[in-house]
Amino acid sequence: MSPNPLANFDIKKLNIFANPAKMFFPKKMIGIDIGTSSIKVVELSRWGQGKTLENYGEIKSVSLYKEPFRSVEKGSYMLSNYFASRAIRAILDEAKIKTKAVIFSIPDFSTFCTSFELPPMSASEINEAVYYNAAQYIPLPITETTLDWKIIEGTPGDKQSSLKIFLVAIPNQVVQDYQKVAQLAGLDLYAVEAEALGLARSLVKEDNKCACLIDIGVQSTTINIVDRKKLRKSYSFDFAGSQLTYSISSALGLGHTEAEELKNNEGLTSSKEEISKTLYLLIDPLVLEVKKVLSDFYQQEGKEVDVVYLTGGTSSLPGLREYFQEVLKKKVEISNCFSELLYPPILGQALEKMAPSFSVAIGVALGGLET
Ligand SMILES: Nc1ncnc2c1ncn2[C@@H]1O[C@H](COP(=O)(O)OP(=O)(O)OP(=O)(O)O)[C@@H](O)[C@H]1O
Ligand SMILES: [Mg+2]
Repeated sequence: MSPNPLANFDIKKLNIFANPAKMFFPKKMIGIDIGTSSIKVVELSRWGQGKTLENYGEIKSVSLYKEPFRSVEKGSYMLSNYFASRAIRAILDEAKIKTKAVIFSIPDFSTFCTSFELPPMSASEINEAVYYNAAQYIPLPITETTLDWKIIEGTPGDKQSSLKIFLVAIPNQVVQDYQKVAQLAGLDLYAVEAEALGLARSLVKEDNKCACLIDIGVQSTTINIVDRKKLRKSYSFDFAGSQLTYSISSALGLGHTEAEELKNNEGLTSSKEEISKTLYLLIDPLVLEVKKVLSDFYQQEGKEVDVVYLTGGTSSLPGLREYFQEVLKKKVEISNCFSELLYPPILGQALEKMAPSFSVAIGVALGGLET
């Protein structure tokens, strides 16, 4: 059993573990999402209540190296520390970003999320109770994980009110990998945060909404439920955006680049039946999963989801939003994570196009600017 490197840190708030004294109320923060296909970097600043997008950058793994920055091999998580840190350094240099404080998002396949109830107790007792109870809910040895948690229901100190806790567990090895990447890139690691928590922050803007967030990337898809801005459920599925391209490529006998272009430009709306049929065959199981998540949530919580937000690069698949809307019979939107930030108006159109890929990076950076 390896020692817990974070044992000396307060487990209550993972997002201040790194260096709380040195960087207390940061005015600028970098958020980084190391995705399978690309690394997204954003730099945000805070001025009063307003948040400004200072800089952003993306580097695709294929443009530098043949391998993805991160992958899952034999069920375990692999992060290429060296390649990832070099790519990050390149983005920072190119964009002339001087800020050092960084928050990394941790991918869904290396985090474990659950929720459970605790009896009424005071705020000071919760930390220990969470730690004590976590072992029965997470499938990882507790000494080898870092815990982050939030109260999603109930009031500490109220003797009538039991508490509902949302718990995120991250293997220490994964946290250490990100510490290494930050160090190699010359950054100060301010925090790490599960990507679902970042998404919830950047996509759900109305206080009273119950929303379902679906992030479709290259390798995996997450379905999350956020009620009144609090993440209530988070599930990860094997549905991979990259499968769509492979299927078109093998159905039509095309090369990868050509298949990718057809997918991105025509998607479900393609007049070539072979393309749309191939795509519907892959998308339908995902829609079924979403339906199941929504109905389970209704069964458990008695609550209907008001709106569905699609995000991740694959959410731009032509016709996808409309198809989800038709099948789920709910309002479905492609949320723009930049919409509440200040930035030069000339960037508006470009940012709207890129927004689906940046939701996670923006969300974790915003977390670092909260007081
Ligand atoms: N217009 C489009 N239609 C369909 N797919 C698209 C479109 N534009 C980009 N994509 C797909 O989006 C994917 C990249 O999305 P994203 O940047 O969210 O992935 P990632 O974060 O690197 O992956 P992951 O989160 O799985 O590690 C690529 O598979 C790309 O083909
Ligand atoms: Mg992603």
